[in-house]
Amino acid sequence: MEQTFIMIKPDGVQRGLVGDIISRFEKKGFYLKGLKFINVDRPFAEKHYEDLSAKPFFSGLVDYIISGPVVAMIWEGKNVILTGRKIIGATNPAESAPGTIRGDYAIEIGRNIIHGSDSAESARKEIALWFPDGPANWQSSVHHWIYE
Ligand code: GTP
Ligand code: MG
Repeated sequence: MEQTFIMIKPDGVQRGLVGDIISRFEKKGFYLKGLKFINVDRPFAEKHYEDLSAKPFFSGLVDYIISGPVVAMIWEGKNVILTGRKIIGATNPAESAPGTIRGDYAIEIGRNIIHGSDSAESARKEIALWFPDGPANWQSSVHHWIYE
């Protein structure tokens, strides 16, 4: 099944939103397949956001990501990449719908709480970068109550 990489950024950790965010993905019916609470260094954060290296906000973005621990996760489920992005909400919290994580909890684009892979290709790359040993191996016992 499809997998995506989700990261709670340092502001989400500092603001005590870890439980709420994990709960939203769990309650939806997605399966948690990887979870790490870690500080990353500048080269690692630059690698994660390498596609944005030419942007004027790049160094501030990297400063933000390395400013404290993050929660790195693999979530699995049908259409989890796109649906995960919908649960997260638009990049700029000023435009994120209420009911989304960013719409409910964030105000500025540079403090938008959470990251989610934007495509199958970036999900594959980000999972390989953050979880070189791959996902945890388990199967949900309620699978048939979520999928027909
Ligand atoms: P991620 O899930 O974090 O990758 O966000 P996204 O896919 O919704 O947006 P994108 O990949 O374009 O940008 C990555 C991150 O850079 C955003 O989540 C913001 O934290 C930050 N960012 C993007 N655009 C701006 C900007 O114009 N100003 C600032 N300060 N930060 C930005
Ligand atoms: Mg992105």
